This record gives sequence, structure tokens and C-alpha cells, in this order.
Amino acid sequence: MKPVRKVVFPVAGLGTRFLPATKAMPKEMLPVVDKPLIQYAVEEAAAAGVTDMIFITGRYKRSIEDHFDKSPELESDLAAKGKTALLDLVHSITPAGVNFIYIRQPEPLGLGHAVLCARPVVGDEPFGVILADDLIYTTGRPALGQLIDARAGQGGGSVLAVQDVPHEETNKYGIVDVQDPMQSTSCVRAIVEKPDPAQAPSDLAVIGRYVLEPEIFDALQSVERGVGGEIQLTDAIAALLPQGRTWAHRFEGRRFDCGSKQGFLTATAHYARLAGYEI
Ligand code: UTP
Repeated sequence: MKPVRKVVFPVAGLGTRFLPATKAMPKEMLPVVDKPLIQYAVEEAAAAGVTDMIFITGRYKRSIEDHFDKSPELESDLAAKGKTALLDLVHSITPAGVNFIYIRQPEPLGLGHAVLCARPVVGDEPFGVILADDLIYTTGRPALGQLIDARAGQGGGSVLAVQDVPHEETNKYGIVDVQDPMQSTSCVRAIVEKPDPAQAPSDLAVIGRYVLEPEIFDALQSVERGVGGEIQLTDAIAALLPQGRTWAHRFEGRRFDCGSKQGFLTATAHYARLAGYEI
């Protein structure tokens, strides 16, 4: 079984729910307290032992590259003023031994298309996918690491992070039907994108963490394009289900939907309290 060494961060979405903040700034750079969403995501991947961070970027995303790059003026200024704690904090943004790789998605043709853009760099290896706007707070092993462990427990295959959502909200998520809903890791029998509650096969929703086998790329290449030419990751995952090697894993942790204002504000309050602020 090949290890998971690479993670894809699709960050090329338009982030329209956060306009005007996201007109010229990526949603993933929005800070929860003092750290951008994308940095929480990179820290989660590094904690899972990943060494190659692959960002699928679009226009107006240069600040993400700058964030994970050296900042000579800032660093020499902090050093000259003896602000060593801040200097260490700046250095810690880019963990040692980690590669940062950027691929441009020419048009926002959907999450599936963004993942497909990573193919030349991922090659024939299993890889993680983190949607940085799903922020997952854990006290133990971070969420991506939990998925990697679940994959090892099954001897390989793809793993989707899932959690129960209110029945009336199934139309916001990819919803799975699993073989044994009582197990924390179970084989996925069906996956449906944003079903109406009346049609949903369960209340088990896919959250923005995946470990995918490289076969997903062929599936992405052959799925039919939907509205606006978008390629849906859910459709490609559905095409792989007959192999019986796709697992849903109920991760432990609290997930904040930071793609929505409500979720972002709830996350901010949560992390602010953890940092000792009154709110
Ligand atoms: P969303 O559905 O949250 O879309 O994308 P969005 O554009 O980011 O935000 P809204 O809905 O307009 O406010 C889910 C994830 O897929 C990425 C996004 O960056 C986000 O992490 N994505 C989406 C891409 O990288 N490329 C795309 O073409 C679409």
C-alpha cells in the first residue's frame, strides 16, 4: 500500500458568498482570529505526515503563494529588533521539509476539475484533498490523519470524511449511503450530490476531506460535465463505487463551515475563546 505523501488544496473557487471581502482576496486567506484558513489546512496536512502541498489556484490567489514564501524584509526587520518570538512564528508558517507547489486552474470549472488539474504532479499515488473552508477542530489526531489511518485499516482504497447533518440540510452536501452505518468506517454504496431531504439516502454528509486513489483521475476525465461545464468530484467518486474500495469515515472533531458567514463567525468565536479572548 503506497503512503499518502501529497495533498491537494483546491483554492480556485470564486468565494462569492464572502463578497465584497473576496473580490480581490482569496476566501482561504480569511483569518480565523489571526491565522488564515489555508494555514490551518496546511498545518493539518503536515501533522498527517504529508510532504507535498499542491495548491490549485486561480486569479487573485497570489497572496496564498506569498503567505507560504519567505519574507526577507519582514524577517530582517524582526531580527534587527530582537523580536525572536514573532520571527519564529513567521518561520513556522512553512514547516521544514515540506514542498509547496502551485498549479493554476485556468477557469473555475468545479471542484472535480480543480482536482484533475493536480494529475501531472500527483501521478500514480494516493493523495489527500483538503477544502480549507471546512475547518475541523480536533483535540486529538487532525482530521486528514484520521482518514489516512482509516485507509490503512482497510488495506487501501479511497476514504471520504463524513458526519451526520440535520435532515433538512441534505441539499447542501454530497450524501452517502453506506453498508453499515453503525461502523465508524464503512463501504460506500451510493453517493448523491445535494439531494432534497425527501430523496436523500441518509443524513451522512461528505465534509471537505478526502483520501483518493489515483484512479479518480481517469474517472474525472470521463464524467459528463454539468451546468456551466463544471466537473463534479461526486460524479467521479460515484463512478468508482462498483470497485467496492471507497470508504466513508466518521471523523472525530468539530467542523465549521467557513465557506458560509455563519460558520465562519462561529469558528471565530470558538477559536477566540480558546485563545482566551472574551466574546
Ligand atoms: P465552493 O463550492 O465553496 O465554491 O467550492 P467557492 O467558489 O469557493 O465559494 P462560493 O460558493 O462562491 O462562496 C468548494 C471548494 O472547491 C474549490 C473552492 O476554492 C473551495 O475550496 N473550487 C471550486 C476550485 O478550486 N475550483 C473550482 O472551479 C470550484
